[in-house]
Amino acid sequence: IDRYFIKKDLIGKKVIVTAGPTIERIDPVRYITNDSSGKMGYAIAESAYNRGAEVVLVSGPSKLNISEGIKKIDITTNNELKKSIENEFNNADVLIMAAAPCDFRVKEQSKEKIKRKEENLLLELIPNEDILSYFGKIKGKRLVIGFAAESNNLIENSKRKLENKNVDYIIANNITEKDAGFNVDTNKVKIISKDEIIDLPLMLKSEVANKILDLI
Ligand code: CTP
Ligand code: CA
Repeated sequence: IDRYFIKKDLIGKKVIVTAGPTIERIDPVRYITNDSSGKMGYAIAESAYNRGAEVVLVSGPSKLNISEGIKKIDITTNNELKKSIENEFNNADVLIMAAAPCDFRVKEQSKEKIKRKEENLLLELIPNEDILSYFGKIKGKRLVIGFAAESNNLIENSKRKLENKNVDYIIANNITEKDAGFNVDTNKVKIISKDEIIDLPLMLKSEVANKILDLI
């Protein structure tokens, strides 16, 4: 229904949306990842497309489907995520970073499968680059929107991310809230900018998506 009756208010805008988790390998059969399903990012991509935008969806592994008119780029690692955004960023108007990148990767990936032993195994993790921060700092006239997944001090932590990453809005998620956050169809968020906080009630992710797209 959306596709035919909705206002086409994003015609002429190129919107990059990132979604899903990233994966950092430990060895050929094991990896680090997180609980992101991609639902929030896919909902944003679909709604932006329905509203007439040119949409590029950069997605980590996800079971979800997306409209054929959306350019989908599949990635696994943080490095691939950054490169794929970089390739599309020049003529983009908006970047919405709904992906859940791994904050760390193993210092040395093992080429061989790590053998089981009867002793502790220590994995050394090194920090991944903050991709949102990188693009926030070179955004120029583009609108850049990030998310914040928090289990405590939601507003304080989100405001810090808004400032540190130099983005226009942070969509703040309290992941301990029922029916919100990872892997559900609903979400309850606060939209945080320099001068205001919009406190949205629990709604479908497709509805949250449209609230976010209204910011454009
Ligand atoms: N993000 C990113 N690159 C990373 C980590 C996060 O671009 N390496 C982006 C996410 O896509 C999100 C925003 O930064 O839009 C905030 O992610 P979040 O995990 O909430 O914050 P972090 O800065 O990673 O801090 P922490 O996990 O410690 O709360
Ligand atoms: Ca993080």
